Amino acid sequence: MRFIPAAFAASIAGGALAQPSSPLPDAQGRYTLEAEGIKAQFIPYAATLTNLWVKDKNGVQRDIVLGYDNTSFYPVDPGHPVYNAIPGRYVNRIGNGQYSIDNVTYNTQKNDGPNTLHSGTNNWSFRNWNVSKVTSKSITFSIYDASNSSLGMIGGVTASVTYSVSKNKWSISMDAVSNDQKTPIMLTQHTYFQLDAFARPDNRTIWNHTLYMPEAKRVMEIDGNALPTGVIANISKNDISDFWSAPHQLGFASGNAGFENNCGNGCHGYNGNWAFNDKRNKKKPALTLSSEWSGIKADLVTDQDAVVLYTCNWNDGKTEFKSTQGVTGQDKFIPRDGCIAIEAQDYVDGINHPEWGRLGKQIFGKGQKYRWESSWSFGTI
Ligand SMILES: *[C@@H]1O[C@H](CO)[C@@H](O)[C@H](O)[C@H]1NC(C)=O
Ligand SMILES: *[C@@H]1O[C@H](CO)[C@@H](O)[C@H](O)[C@H]1NC(C)=O
Ligand SMILES: *[C@@H]1O[C@H](CO)[C@@H](O)[C@H](O)[C@H]1NC(C)=O
Ligand SMILES: *[C@@H]1O[C@H](CO)[C@@H](O)[C@H](O)[C@H]1NC(C)=O
Ligand SMILES: *[C@@H]1O[C@H](CO)[C@@H](O)[C@H](O)[C@H]1NC(C)=O
Ligand SMILES: *[C@@H]1O[C@H](CO)[C@@H](O)[C@H](O)[C@H]1NC(C)=O
Ligand SMILES: *[C@@H]1O[C@H](CO)[C@@H](O)[C@H](O)[C@H]1NC(C)=O
Ligand SMILES: *[C@@H]1O[C@H](CO)[C@@H](O)[C@H](O)[C@H]1NC(C)=O
Repeated sequence: MRFIPAAFAASIAGGALAQPSSPLPDAQGRYTLEAEGIKAQFIPYAATLTNLWVKDKNGVQRDIVLGYDNTSFYPVDPGHPVYNAIPGRYVNRIGNGQYSIDNVTYNTQKNDGPNTLHSGTNNWSFRNWNVSKVTSKSITFSIYDASNSSLGMIGGVTASVTYSVSKNKWSISMDAVSNDQKTPIMLTQHTYFQLDAFARPDNRTIWNHTLYMPEAKRVMEIDGNALPTGVIANISKNDISDFWSAPHQLGFASGNAGFENNCGNGCHGYNGNWAFNDKRNKKKPALTLSSEWSGIKADLVTDQDAVVLYTCNWNDGKTEFKSTQGVTGQDKFIPRDGCIAIEAQDYVDGINHPEWGRLGKQIFGKGQKYRWESSWSFGTI
């Protein structure tokens, strides 16, 4: 008898189960998708990617994303870093816990200092999504978010995410629609990468990973709580936020005085929002992350106009990485700065900045469809 994890049993009870011939999850509740050069695993909790294997320059399969071996730990982890999950319905920050639509002001939960993060209590990254379809190459998770189930997030929203794999590639698409009234919708896929899978024996930080974002010439200025101030700065060559003029190592500006507190009080490195050039070829990579040590390279193609990058400053060094990572004989702790979260999305807090012209991309009326599409292609350098 196969162990049926709670989340899976809930899907059965809800009647939203995939066909009987569909692949079943493993004993940890993970669904496995495989194609040439790639293997990816997912759980319904927060529609999370738990493991992602690609080949390094020596042909060794590496699990290049953060996560836990024990999938029962995701819901109870007190830190809840939103590991590779889908937060929502409005990701990142909402300034001062409020926004207005048609002159009505809605108050949202202040769960991040004076601001709201990832929509506050009961956000989508804390829920078991339904598995609505699964094959060996693709899985669709869905969620119904009732009006105001996250404080101040009005209107019932139905959403789904489809993950699929093909040769060396992981594709992601999301759809969402409000069933009754206007509401903010802004989604992302919140994956934390470590392209060396913590197996580089002498260094587990992210600083020697290389990032190139040729179309990211603007960045939001932020306050001490990492909330955009409203100013969108132009990034000059070799500025601390410059990953457009040339590929730069993530630690390239660590000698710069501005590196400390660059991402809010006590936060060094990055936790910011870059805007892509308005006119760009959306079929071309918006961003390439690579590591010389493993030789792994990841290209992000996205239809989104911005990206949030976070270099894991707040990691306290007490969390272990997975048994699929690291080096035999060494400890398994993720250090401060041990990863990078990459989140393609729209402009942070755009609902409170009409002057940015993002309202049409962030507020959706009844029946108006929200769509998000990205893919990661993997190779070696
Ligand atoms: C997995 O995590 C859950 C929740 O924290 C815990 O109850 C359980 O003991 C853990 N299992 C193992 C094998 O560590
Ligand atoms: C919002 O208020 C402004 C100023 O009072 C008014 O001009 C506008 O028509 C109102 N909009 C809606 C949708 O009620
Ligand atoms: C998401 O919801 C949970 C529980 O409902 C809450 O503890 C958390 O602060 C919320 N926000 C974030 C960013 O995790
Ligand atoms: C899953 O589907 C069931 C049955 O349609 C529904 O009651 C439940 O709310 C759904 N869960 C989520 C997270 O949307
Ligand atoms: C949302 O629910 C809270 C109670 O949790 C209530 O105070 C508030 O008025 C509700 N907001 C709306 C717009 O329904
Ligand atoms: C890893 O490399 C970074 C960047 O050079 C450096 O700051 C850090 O001290 C190194 N860590 C270890 C454990 O050597
Ligand atoms: C950025 O540059 C553009 C023109 O290239 C200019 O219009 C804009 O004002 C600049 N933004 C800032 C914040 O300086
Ligand atoms: C690693 O990054 C640091 C800056 O953080 C740099 O000084 C050093 O040269 C890099 N090492 C390698 C091997 O690239």
